[in-house]
Amino acid sequence: MTLSRREFIQGAAAMGATLAFAGPARASRATWRERRDLFPEGVASGDPDHQSVILWTRRPFEKGEREVLTVEVAEDEAFRHVVATAPAPVSRAADWTSRVLVVDLKPARTYWYRFTDADGNGSRVGRTITAPDPADGRAVNFAFVSCQDINDGTLNAYRRMIYEDERAAPADQLHFVLHLGDFIYEVVWYPEDLATRYDRTIYDVARIPGGEKIGKYHFPLTVDGYRAIYRGYLHDPDLQDARARWPFVAMWDNHEFSWQGWQSVLKPGPEARPGQTVKVAANQAWFEYQPARVAKPSGPSLETFDPPAVKDVAIERFDSDGLGDEPNNRIAIDSLKVYRALRYGRHLDLILTDQHSYRSPNPLDAPELATLGEEFPAMFPEDLMEILDGGRAYGGGHPPAELRFGTNSVANPAKDAPPQTILGPAQKAWFKERLRSSSATWKIWGNSLGALDWRADPQNLPAGLTVPWPSGFANMGGGDYGNAYVERGEIYDLVREAGITGFAIVSGDRHSFWAGYAAKALPPKAFEPVGLSFVAASLSSPGAMEAYEHRLPKDHPLRALYLADRARGPEWTFNMLLRHGVRSCLEYAKSGDLAKARALSNPSLAPHLEFVDLGGHGYARVRLSANEMRTEFVCIPRPVTRSDRPDGGPLRYRVVHVAPLWTAGERPRLRQEVLEGDPGLSI
Ligand SMILES: [Fe+2]
Repeated sequence: MTLSRREFIQGAAAMGATLAFAGPARASRATWRERRDLFPEGVASGDPDHQSVILWTRRPFEKGEREVLTVEVAEDEAFRHVVATAPAPVSRAADWTSRVLVVDLKPARTYWYRFTDADGNGSRVGRTITAPDPADGRAVNFAFVSCQDINDGTLNAYRRMIYEDERAAPADQLHFVLHLGDFIYEVVWYPEDLATRYDRTIYDVARIPGGEKIGKYHFPLTVDGYRAIYRGYLHDPDLQDARARWPFVAMWDNHEFSWQGWQSVLKPGPEARPGQTVKVAANQAWFEYQPARVAKPSGPSLETFDPPAVKDVAIERFDSDGLGDEPNNRIAIDSLKVYRALRYGRHLDLILTDQHSYRSPNPLDAPELATLGEEFPAMFPEDLMEILDGGRAYGGGHPPAELRFGTNSVANPAKDAPPQTILGPAQKAWFKERLRSSSATWKIWGNSLGALDWRADPQNLPAGLTVPWPSGFANMGGGDYGNAYVERGEIYDLVREAGITGFAIVSGDRHSFWAGYAAKALPPKAFEPVGLSFVAASLSSPGAMEAYEHRLPKDHPLRALYLADRARGPEWTFNMLLRHGVRSCLEYAKSGDLAKARALSNPSLAPHLEFVDLGGHGYARVRLSANEMRTEFVCIPRPVTRSDRPDGGPLRYRVVHVAPLWTAGERPRLRQEVLEGDPGLSI
């Protein structure tokens, strides 16, 4: 759909107060002296469409409540061809951050922008790129990233991304960066409380005013607390350079609010508590620090958030969809609507969903479940997971009263609960409609959580190794679409029934690389993929292999399923467990013979997986064209210290998965190629 100019300007005006119109180019008349110290968090741009983009900076002032900066947008880096100049207000009420929507730009164009205060003190220069026109058939390139913990890691991956992009041919350069959450981690260690974690150094990120401390970590309770963390993160030079080079499209994950929280429930440690005021504070800080086309009840102004008043009240009742029936909860979660869709040329509809504000509680959180199968690290029986996910609707409305695992049993904690939902009903209806109505070649679901099953086959373990596994496959995930069977199935059924092609999921959160197929069920049920599914590793946050290397006892009877100890260090058989099963792991740990181990692969275990690396870090880049989706995993070594090399340090490997576009009813297929390095046991 192409809007007329008049409709477009009306729509853009509805976005709010600070609006700049592009016109004929002329040389800059501004006095601009770069003073990065006065703009300590740099610049950013977000959510471009084919005519407009939001520009961002922060310029704090010691005194007063409000100042007005000037923003200039130019066709060249030297600002000889300035196409827009506009006022950019900053105020104490928005922590001195500024958002300006610049409209009337040309599609698929690179622009440069900078902010200047009344005294001529200027921000660094940022670069941004508008989306191609919806009818434009050019290929679209983007990176997707997540999980940038800088409390105990570094962002060498951004340095690598910038280095490669600067040297790429123009047609191969990235158009934008999709950030799928954990932009900040709200749980912060202070170095004086904790010096190291695993083999990592604890770096000083932020001091949290008005926060609280549980154990060794601190977490925010107020908007000033969240703001302090965003500022600390944006002082990272690699992140700041990345935001200045590309427009970002951001979706939050859990850590932008609360580690184990959901809706407005705060769960910073083992105990959950009412957190309506904290959810509003988290939303306000996100609004202030992430330039994005989002909706809030106070209206379309981009200048300030205007938080609604709420109280922290316990949620005692839930409606039939699992949404907390408490007025403050509704106000808090509705204080910022971030799910949205963006169009990039003829080939991309990017549909972004919020996985935390509307979700029902994670059914695996019921504490009594911890005793079921504790001899099997991270494994939970798949058939019991299906019962928990289905809630009171399981078995045609007849869920079992008890969950049985061998000789052990517990009361079914989900017996009276609604079926698990991650999207919630309103967002789900919106999401389905966007999928159905999309006219782009590729419908990419930007989902902060992963959707591929984590599965193992402990039923094939030899007798005597540990206690017997009763029967059936094990699920090793939790809290994402990898075991939200009912809701995931509902979406995939829609894709199949509506004959939607070019459906693919990109996600984060799992701190690991995954490539495979979107399928609602696995053998012995019918395996019928309807699309592709990918997860990009964390930029920096520790993943499962790092945890197992440090925590799994050397004499654990099932150690071979996770790690194979070698003179040069442990190999990650956990990857092999998910791809090939227990028999392959036991053989590989014993003999080190890869061919022999793969010959024992269990073909019923993981037909949905082509690649998994639970030890990887880095980013993924996607290229979408009329006839294929190309997804490249760029994997770097564990980013424990900042690289002093201009390329951000060495690569571990570069692997690409290419899928030709399929027709309705045809099964999607990935072709894998290792372009550089060694992905170990990931294949
Ligand atoms: Fe994360």
